[in-house]
Amino acid sequence: MKAIGVLVSGRGSNLQALIEAAAAGTLGGRIGVVLSNVESAPALDRARQVGIPAVFRDHRGRKREDFDQELVGLLETHGVEVVCLAGYLRLLSPGFIQAFRGRILNVHPSLLPAFPGLEAPRQAWEHGAKITGATVHLVDEGLDSGPIVRQEAVPVLDSDTPETLAQRILEVEHRIYPPAVRLLLEGRLRIDGRRVLVGAP
Ligand code: GRF
Repeated sequence: MKAIGVLVSGRGSNLQALIEAAAAGTLGGRIGVVLSNVESAPALDRARQVGIPAVFRDHRGRKREDFDQELVGLLETHGVEVVCLAGYLRLLSPGFIQAFRGRILNVHPSLLPAFPGLEAPRQAWEHGAKITGATVHLVDEGLDSGPIVRQEAVPVLDSDTPETLAQRILEVEHRIYPPAVRLLLEGRLRIDGRRVLVGAP
């Protein structure tokens, strides 16, 4: 069974969704290792609770390429074939992208290319958008800029606060991320320029 590596920096609710999908047999693979650049990330505890190797590495004071090469080494040591970003708050270096090109996924809480970067639900709310959502995309060298695999819209309600909107988007993230990971694990994603096409199993 193919192994995925999950990169996290915080709460880890998307990691939890991946853990649950793996346990239910619907992820199409297993989680081989979880890596965090934040020692206190609750995501590390979620992994440890279910016996997944969970490793902290401090990026502070280190060159991005050097740090990322260490992560690549750890991922390879654990036999990782697909990398999932789940609230990982660092841009990946070109060397990292190259090592796993076409095999890195991220989930983002907006309908990209609208509202990339941090606090996307708040950005959408402050902009007065009527519809936002969640996106799963392949990761390239840019910020939230890679080819889109899957999206789902979430309406912005008049009664929403940035927090209530973020919570509804998060529930969508948890639903759409694991199946997208499965498609990549099964080799069903074909990248045609910016377009990602889903092939037969
Ligand atoms: C999610 O909204 C994800 O889309 C974004 O960061 C948040 C991480 O949440 N990249 P969690 O750590 O998965 O709970």
